[in-house]
Amino acid sequence: MNRAFVIHGGNELSGAIEVRGSKNSALPILAATLLTKEKCRIRNLPRVLDVMAMIETLEQIGAKVKWLDKRTIEIENRNIHPANLSKDSVKKMRASILLLGPLLARFGHVEKMRYPGGDKIGARPIDTHLKAFADLGAKVTCGRNFFSVEMSRLRKLPDTVTLQEFSVTATENMLLFLSSIPKTTKLNIAACEPHVRDLAVFLSKMGARIRGAGSSTMRIRGAKKLRGASHKVIPDYIEAGTFLLAALAAGGSVLIKNAPLFDLDLVISTLQTAGADIRLFPKKKTIEIYSLKGARLLNGKRMVIQKIQTLPHPGIPTDLQSAFGVLATQTRGSTLIHDPLYEKRFETLKELRKMGVALKICDSHQALIPGPVKLRGADVTCYDLRGGAALIIAGLAAQGTTIVRDVEHIERGYEDIAGRLRALGADIKKTT
Ligand code: EPZ
Repeated sequence: MNRAFVIHGGNELSGAIEVRGSKNSALPILAATLLTKEKCRIRNLPRVLDVMAMIETLEQIGAKVKWLDKRTIEIENRNIHPANLSKDSVKKMRASILLLGPLLARFGHVEKMRYPGGDKIGARPIDTHLKAFADLGAKVTCGRNFFSVEMSRLRKLPDTVTLQEFSVTATENMLLFLSSIPKTTKLNIAACEPHVRDLAVFLSKMGARIRGAGSSTMRIRGAKKLRGASHKVIPDYIEAGTFLLAALAAGGSVLIKNAPLFDLDLVISTLQTAGADIRLFPKKKTIEIYSLKGARLLNGKRMVIQKIQTLPHPGIPTDLQSAFGVLATQTRGSTLIHDPLYEKRFETLKELRKMGVALKICDSHQALIPGPVKLRGADVTCYDLRGGAALIIAGLAAQGTTIVRDVEHIERGYEDIAGRLRALGADIKKTT
């Protein structure tokens, strides 16, 4: 964990950047291929560490994977051996929990699965997942380092499952499992994120019938035998939002291509209300941004943002919280950042103190960011994937040199971010 990005700040950005496929959509869809023995073809995969890790994990338990081009695989899960699932693979990322639903669907039980790893941004228990499977009649046993789940062969499955919170991966695990059950089950308190919708589209292509995807109540009619399917992963709205915030903080004239505008409604309207000059071309799926360095507007004023509150979709995504916090340092007046979802996601904002930001952490969910602040380059460390991207944005907007350490976090979810920002005129390179 010692690679770093070196950024010489101050350059305005200009040019076009293309949004890659969504990591958080690719991961559950790759897990869903376990539900069939037929071949599946998945396109528009982002070349990021978490997606490669998921593919390696599937190969570890028996998947046959063929790369058809840089972003397309053909995967066949004819002979699967869950016992080959290694502790290290599961601990590598949060998304390994998404193997639970398909393995339960296929084998009826999962023995001694390790708890998932992932960003240290909060406790992130898997209680919501395990309680949902218990509500479906499963016997759940939890140990200190691993858990087991055994579906009951006797008990009739209930017609309704209600999650205990709008959990994204718990919703996805329910979709993955219930798609193999040949009856209709109602799922309440479902998450509405774009990647949940995309998973539902893929499962429907495999033969499940899913109504209400994208709403908090879904009805899933599964099928005993699901078929192979081909699917193109949707563009990543978090990546698009990251580039949007980077362009506003660093200044410049940037075109974001292949952006899922409809998934960014509140992000875009919040920024436009703050005064940002953002033009949308829905048909071309393009966002155009014009801004001067330091979130200054073409009329000479600065953006004003009083409060950013992150919420489950369609609220402002918590995965953009850190990047919004960096932009807030460039706006006029104090900005309240309220993240009710994670209790440990302010580590990145604390790093901004090294760059001259006298922010106030009110409690584990609220922080006050003063602005405008002349950011000065500093030696900072990223603690999580999205926080790392936010620190890059801070380096772009700062005067002087910024070193962002432990960039492997960032490479888990952003493909070649340094190369793509360099193409926009940023002075950023990765240490060898
Ligand atoms: C998924 O994690 C994403 N990971 C995370 O993205 C993302 O931050 C998160 O959803 C929220 O959007 C993947 O998709 C692989 P949760 P997940 O269960 O499913 C609290 C990234 O950067 N919460 O939806 O583990 C909950 O307790 C990663 O790609 C509420 O308080 O997240 C937990 O602390 C980081 N109330 C947090 O939010 C609710 O109603 C996330 O919960 C719902 C959730």
